[in-house]
Amino acid sequence: MAKSVDFNVGPKALEYVERDHAVVSPSYTRDYPFVMSHGKGAEVWDVDGRRYVDMTTGIAVNSTGHAHPKVVQAIKDQAEKFLHMAGTDFYYPSQIEFAEKLAATAPFAEAARVFLANSGTEAVEGALKLARYHTKRPQIIAFLNSFHGRSMGALSATSSKPVQRAHYFPLIPGFTHVPYPNAYRPMLNMDGFTDYGERVVDYIENVLFKTIIPAEEVAGVLVEPIQGEGGYVVPTPGFFPALRQLCDRYGIMLITDEVQSGIGRTGKWWAIEHFGVEPDIIASAKGIASGMPLGAIIARESIMGHWEYGSHGTTFGGNPVSCAAGIATLDLLGDAHGKGGMIENAAEVGQYMMDALEEIAPRHPSIGQIRGRGMMLGVELIKDQGTREPAKYLRDEVVHRAFNEGLLILGCGTSTIRFMPPLNLEKPMADEALHIFDQALTAAEEAHGIR
Ligand SMILES: Cc1ncc(COP(=O)(O)O)c(C=O)c1O
Repeated sequence: MAKSVDFNVGPKALEYVERDHAVVSPSYTRDYPFVMSHGKGAEVWDVDGRRYVDMTTGIAVNSTGHAHPKVVQAIKDQAEKFLHMAGTDFYYPSQIEFAEKLAATAPFAEAARVFLANSGTEAVEGALKLARYHTKRPQIIAFLNSFHGRSMGALSATSSKPVQRAHYFPLIPGFTHVPYPNAYRPMLNMDGFTDYGERVVDYIENVLFKTIIPAEEVAGVLVEPIQGEGGYVVPTPGFFPALRQLCDRYGIMLITDEVQSGIGRTGKWWAIEHFGVEPDIIASAKGIASGMPLGAIIARESIMGHWEYGSHGTTFGGNPVSCAAGIATLDLLGDAHGKGGMIENAAEVGQYMMDALEEIAPRHPSIGQIRGRGMMLGVELIKDQGTREPAKYLRDEVVHRAFNEGLLILGCGTSTIRFMPPLNLEKPMADEALHIFDQALTAAEEAHGIR
C-alpha cells in the first residue's frame, strides 16, 4: 500500500522502522508504521506510548484479545513443564485435550479427527494432501480471489494477487480456479438462475466438468466460506447447498478453509455453519490459540481415520505451549455448541457494528457494500454507485488516516476495509473504533472531492 498521508508516529517507532528496513525482508506487507509495545484486550500501545483501538487482531488471530490472563497463565504453566516433545512421535496431555475439544466443535454429524500443524498454510497443505490421499484423485478446484497461504500447494490454490505468485512458477499441477460466488461483482451471467452461487456451481458442473476436468478426477473443492483476503465476501445462500450436492454426486471432498473465518469469528464456531451444510475437511489456524502458532486439519473420522502411519507428520505442529493456549482459547470462546462464551459476544457485538455501519452508510457516497457475519466485517469503497468502480486509493487513505487518529484497521480485496476485532470486544470500544472510521472516511472523501 503506497503511503497516502504523512504518519503521526513518535521517534522510537521511526527508529525501529528504520532498523527493520535495514535487516528484515522487504517482502512483508506493512501498511503503516505501527510498532507494538504491548496490548490488552482490544487496545494496543506503540513503543512511544501511543494508544490504538485494534480492529485487526494481528489479522484475525488474537481472538480472545491481547494477552488474555487465562491464556497467558496457561502458556506460563505449560512452559514451566516442557516446551516441546514432537507430537508426531510422542504423546502429551495438552495436545490430546486440545484435539478432543476442537473435534467436539466440528460441524459434522459423524465423529471428527484432528491433525495439528503450525500455521494456516500448513493446515491447507495437509487438507489438500488428505483429499488427494483419500480419493486417490489428483485435481483440486479453487476460487478466484481466494487466499489459502504461501507454501507451494496452498499457493497453487491462492489467486488473490499476482504478486503472490509472480516468479514462483511452476506451481503444483492440478489446480483449476472458478469465480467465487460474489453477487456484488459477478463474473458469470445469470443464465436463468436467481442465485448467483448456484450459477457458479452450474458452471463447474456443466462447463468445467464437460470441457477440461473430468469430475471423476477431482479430489476436492477448496473454498473459504467467507472470502477473507479477497474482500470479506459472503456467498449467496444457494451456493453451499448446491456445492455440497455437487460434491456428493461426484465423490469430491468439500474442503473449507476456515483459517480466517473459523474459531468463532463469525458468531458460530465455523462460518460454514451459516450455510447449513457439512464440509468433509476443514483447515483452521489464526485465532485457534489466541496468537500462539497453531493450525489444524479437522476431518470426518471416515476420512482422516484412514490416513495411515507415517503418511503425514510435523515436528513443531501441535506444540505443547500452543496447545495449552489453544485449550484456554476454546474454553473462553464457548462450549461445543458455541454457547456461554465469546462466540455469543461476537454474534451480538458484530451485529451491533454491522447496524452502526449501515447507519453511517447513507452519509458516505463511497460506501458500496457492507457485508460479513459476526466480527468478520467488510466495507467496500467505490468511486461511483453506478459503475461500482473500486476506490482503492480512497481505501488506502482511510486506513492511513485512521491510524493517525488511533485506530488500527486493514484493507482486503481491491478496495475493502475489514474489521476483525477480538471476539470479546465491548460496545463502547466498538463505538470508539467506528467513530474514528467515520471521521477518517469523511476526511478522505472530502480530500478527494467525493462529498
Ligand atoms: C483463508 C486463509 N487461508 C490460509 C491462510 C494462510 O495462513 P498462514 O499465514 O498462517 O499461513 C490465510 C492467511 O491470511 C487465510 O486468510
